[in-house]
Amino acid sequence: MQVVIVNSAQEVANLGARHCLNLITANPRAVLGLATGSTPVALYGELIELQAKGAISFEQCLSFNLDEYIGLDPRHPQSYRYFMNIQLFDHIDIDKNNTYVPDGMSDPQQSAIDYEKEIATAGGIDLQILGVGRNGHIGFNEPSSSLVSRTRIKTLTAGTIADNKRFFTVDEFQPSLAITMGIATILESKKILLLATGASKAKAVRDLVEGPLSASCPASALQMHNNTVVIIDREAASELAHSEYYQQVNLETEQLANNND
Ligand code: F6R
Repeated sequence: MQVVIVNSAQEVANLGARHCLNLITANPRAVLGLATGSTPVALYGELIELQAKGAISFEQCLSFNLDEYIGLDPRHPQSYRYFMNIQLFDHIDIDKNNTYVPDGMSDPQQSAIDYEKEIATAGGIDLQILGVGRNGHIGFNEPSSSLVSRTRIKTLTAGTIADNKRFFTVDEFQPSLAITMGIATILESKKILLLATGASKAKAVRDLVEGPLSASCPASALQMHNNTVVIIDREAASELAHSEYYQQVNLETEQLANNND
């Protein structure tokens, strides 16, 4: 796991976008794994700008989102399909037929099985973008999720429902169930970028980077992945015990790369 600590949320987005740019430049047919929530919005803004400038094209890319609420129609403003259209897909040249979000409306159990097959048919995910919940969830894999789980239905914790309440209007139906890629599904991605910003994520970041591998912090499963980059701002890094070491590693890796140029 590489841990990169930058000064601001905007720098997190810029660096995340650079990883996407490098991947798509090397492989224009890349399969992207995408997340919703507030964390990746600035990254999506950067990708939209890069595409507007002609630096990147998503024409041949495929994408798979991590999760979707059960019981929300894709046209519902709080559905993750709607979110992705508004925040990214409507503004880039990706073919929407190549953008997959789990189907939370028809038979969710069958949708979960189908989703796994669709990811496999696409050849797997090249780059998975993740946020992290305050309780350490990735996707909607809440604490106690099996570390070998696949795409399935999950019940959201009271804390996650409370955290996401801000997206719903008062009295609006807020689902308590979701379809989410499993932890094993996520770990099969060739590369993973986890982004976190702000002090509210500091404990989750500490647990995922330095805590024990445990279903109590589902994101700690990333310790088992051999190509994960954790990009965080100083506030999200504030509870890490070894930030100086992570910075030293990055500096030395950079120096090595420069010497080899
Ligand atoms: C969203 C998702 C969630 C979020 C997490 C953090 O698709 O899978 O795991 O990444 O809840 O959400 P924000 O970014 O809103 O703090």
